[in-house]
Amino acid sequence: MRIEGKEYRTIWFENNIVKIIDQTKLPHQFVIKELKTINDAINAIKIMEVRGAPLIGGTAAYGLALAVQENNDPEFIKKSAKKLIQSRPTAINLKWAVDRMIKKLTGINSDQLLSIALNEAKEICDEDEKFCENIGINGLKVIEEIYNKKKDTVNILTHCNAGWLATINWGTATSPIYHAHKKGIPVHVWVDETRPRNQGANLTSYELNEEEIPNTIIADNTGGILMQRGEVDMCIVGTDRTLSNGDVCNKIGTYLKALAAHDNNVPFYVALPSSTIDWDIKDAKDIPIEERNSEELSHVEGIDESNEVKKVLIYPKKSKAKNLAFDVTPAKYVTGLITERGITVASFDGLKKLFK
Ligand code: MRU
Repeated sequence: MRIEGKEYRTIWFENNIVKIIDQTKLPHQFVIKELKTINDAINAIKIMEVRGAPLIGGTAAYGLALAVQENNDPEFIKKSAKKLIQSRPTAINLKWAVDRMIKKLTGINSDQLLSIALNEAKEICDEDEKFCENIGINGLKVIEEIYNKKKDTVNILTHCNAGWLATINWGTATSPIYHAHKKGIPVHVWVDETRPRNQGANLTSYELNEEEIPNTIIADNTGGILMQRGEVDMCIVGTDRTLSNGDVCNKIGTYLKALAAHDNNVPFYVALPSSTIDWDIKDAKDIPIEERNSEELSHVEGIDESNEVKKVLIYPKKSKAKNLAFDVTPAKYVTGLITERGITVASFDGLKKLFK
C-alpha cells in the first residue's frame, strides 16, 4: 500500500540486507531500517520495530535467511531458529514461519542453503500478500451486503493494527476495507487507539490516512457507547493465534469489544490468513500470553511543538502497572472468520471444511 503516494511492502531483501519500515518511529517519522544479522531480526521483533502476526512471521523467515548468510553451520541455524521462536510468544505465525524454513532447509547442501533460504522467505512473504488480498476479496462481500441494505456509509470498528503494516501488504482486518474503498463503497473506520502502544492511533489511522480512507480515532472504551447508539455497523479485527475451535487470541481489549458487539447485535468478524491458525493447542488457557514491560503503560511518547520526540512518565512514580498484551475472545462471540479461502463460522467444523 502507499505512503506519501509511493507503494511499499513492509519487508524486502536488497543487496544482502533485509529492509523494514521501523514501526516504532511511526507516525511521526518514516524510517527504513536495515537488518543485517539474525540478532538484528530478533531485536526488531522484540522491540516491535516490526509487529503484527503475519509480519512477525515474514521477519522470522528472513531472519533465518540472515542466519544462513552469517554462518551456515547447521548448529548455528538450529540455535537461531530457537532464539527467533522465543522472541515474542503469542503470534503463532512466528513458529509457523520458522518451522517452515527449517523443513525447507533440512538435508540441503551447504552451497545451496542461502539461495533456498532466501527463496523460501520471499515465498512466505509473497504468499502472505496473496492471502491478505484474498481476505479482502472475501470480506468485501460482508461490507457490500451491509451497504446494499443501508445505502449509506458503512461504519467499521477495528482494534489495534491489523492493517498492511502488520502484514506484508493489504492487512487482514483492513483488506476488506481497502477493497470496499477501491470499489467506491463509502466506508468510515472507528479506530481504537489501543493502549498502551497505540497501534490503532499510530499505525491504523496513519495507514488509512495515506490511502485516504475516512477514519476517527477513539479511546479504547468508546466502542460500547458507539454500538449502543447504532454508530457501528460491524467490527473487524485481526488475530495472533486462532485455535481450531474458533477461539481468537488478539490484542488486549479485543474481548471487551466482542462482548459489546454481542450485546448490541453488531457483527464481529475476525480476519486471518491460515498461518495464524494453531491446530495444536486445544484450550485457550494454554496460549502463551505475552506480558510486556510496564513502562509501556506508565510512559507515553510523542512529539513536542518543535517536532522533537519526547517520552514522559504519566503515572504516579510509586504505582505498579501490569501490561498483558493479548486476550482471548471465545468463538461464541465471533460472527465469522474471514480467511483467504472464504468466510466460515468460528468452529472446528468450519475451519476444517476450509483447511483440512
Ligand atoms: O502487539 P502487536 O502490535 O504485534 O499486536 C498485533 C495484533 O494484535 C494484531 O491484531 C494481530 O497481530 C493481527 S495482524 C494482521
